[in-house]
Amino acid sequence: MPPAGKPEDFVAAMLRDGLDTRTVGHPVLLHPELDSTMDEVARLSDGGAKEGTVVVAEVQTAGRGRFGRTWVSPEGNLWVSILLRPSLDSLRWLSVLAGIAAARAIASAAGLEVTLKWPNDVRIRGRKVGGVLVENSLSGSEVRHAIIGIGINVALDTSTDFHLASTATALNRECEGPVSRAALLRHLLEEVDRLYESLMAGETPLEEWRGLLDTLGKEVVVRDVTGSDSLDGSYRGVAEDVDVSGNLLLRLPDGGLITLAGGEVTILEAPAFVYIKPGQPRR
Ligand code: BTN
Repeated sequence: MPPAGKPEDFVAAMLRDGLDTRTVGHPVLLHPELDSTMDEVARLSDGGAKEGTVVVAEVQTAGRGRFGRTWVSPEGNLWVSILLRPSLDSLRWLSVLAGIAAARAIASAAGLEVTLKWPNDVRIRGRKVGGVLVENSLSGSEVRHAIIGIGINVALDTSTDFHLASTATALNRECEGPVSRAALLRHLLEEVDRLYESLMAGETPLEEWRGLLDTLGKEVVVRDVTGSDSLDGSYRGVAEDVDVSGNLLLRLPDGGLITLAGGEVTILEAPAFVYIKPGQPRR
């Protein structure tokens, strides 16, 4: 028997308890160590793997986040990628779907309240506990594959890294007792599967997403961190809403409203200004 909590345990335990999905998680493949689960799923897809194939790694040696950043990926956490082949129209909803699935799964497995920082940083009490990365491969207008990557800090020791210590947290730190990775993974895969079925049936999860976003109503700075976004530099304003395409609607101090498709949001503690529409009563 491997010692409790070792990688052999948690995926096998999850499968033993039963996975109630149609597409996602058939199969689930576990690796003690990978470069990145994103790369492994891409390799499997190129080799003809089935839609719904899931790869889990105990350790990633080259885990990555949005904007090409390094994603610190030691053992004891949840690093997972899922292979999907959705329609072209649905692609833009996958990261929203993944953020909602992560929030639902954490609520079910750990009983914690989770919010999302636009677009999809998974947060507990303002600290990042997980992230979502979606990578697509297209051939013309044909979708070869889409890979959803989800990372959730379960046992991450954030104290070893200055940046992580001030911005990140982990489920075991937020909970009374240790969180079961088997339960977390099962809930996560089942929620992705449900949301994906609905998406394929034409339902977009806009309202649930809007309700989870802790960004709305706050003063924020949105930065183009790669230089490759349509965003030109950075903008400061009040995050007013999201639109039906998932864009952020940002109210500028001069009253103008701009639509942002990407970028990194920093939430400022207290709004420096509140834009009052002409004719709107002051409170
Ligand atoms: C982010 O917030 O920047 C997204 C982080 C995504 C991390 C996950 S962990 C599983 C998958 N494999 C990776 O290399 N990245 C994603």
